[in-house]
Amino acid sequence: MLLKASATSFAAISSLKQQDIFKDKVAGNNSLCWVPYRRPKREGLCSVRAITGETNSKPLTGVIFEPFTEVQNELVQVSKNSTQSFARQRFEDACEAALNEQINVEYNVSYIYHALFAYFDRDNVGLPGFAKYFKEASDEERNHAEMLMKYQNTRGGKVKFQSILMPLMEFDHPEKGDALYAMELALSLEKLTNEKLLSLHSVAQQCNDAQMTDYIEGSFLAEQVQAIKQVSEYVAQLRRIGKGHGIWHFDQMLLKGADAGGVAAA
Ligand SMILES: [Fe+2]
Ligand SMILES: [Fe+2]
Repeated sequence: MLLKASATSFAAISSLKQQDIFKDKVAGNNSLCWVPYRRPKREGLCSVRAITGETNSKPLTGVIFEPFTEVQNELVQVSKNSTQSFARQRFEDACEAALNEQINVEYNVSYIYHALFAYFDRDNVGLPGFAKYFKEASDEERNHAEMLMKYQNTRGGKVKFQSILMPLMEFDHPEKGDALYAMELALSLEKLTNEKLLSLHSVAQQCNDAQMTDYIEGSFLAEQVQAIKQVSEYVAQLRRIGKGHGIWHFDQMLLKGADAGGVAAA
């Protein structure tokens, strides 16, 4: 085996007495020996030649790692039947249950956004921009549920669905009108989802599950605060507009996705 090494490594290895290394080998001490070897005409680069022998309990580095001994514990724990996950490692039941709850949250929110899509798509409501916006929002929440399902499977948990509640189907409000009321409802749902995600994160934290906290932070929490900001701006704009003619322009903006920040599903 021939390995390249930096000049620093070469200097460190050079400090070993080669004679001593070979002496050990000849005396039957089967340690791993690294013999410095300098290539001619190539300054700054050097190679080391490793002479492998049988394993020895005396490591050069001082770090003892015996994989075939240490892996035995893991080996006996590999499930004998295929009804249990083979991949599961340091994944607590509490995390598995919390993930299933969050899947249900995302599905419920998706269902409400789908109801909003159906409402704004009616001929006697006639706001196709709002219909499009809430259809995309519904798809995105369902995608969140699916991301969590895939994550559950990645960690060796089991996805369990729970019931989805029947949402309201009428969204007109006597004072606010339907457009503002729907967007305020969306803002409340996004904040509620954020609360649920933070609870999920704290369960992972209590279980010392570093990978799960990292996943929730990177894939959900960052995006969630952006969604809240965007819907908040829509609420503010709709309050300025009121219930009149301006709603039609706002709807066209949603339809074309033409606002300054770009319209995307929350
Ligand atoms: Fe979501
Ligand atoms: Fe969302």
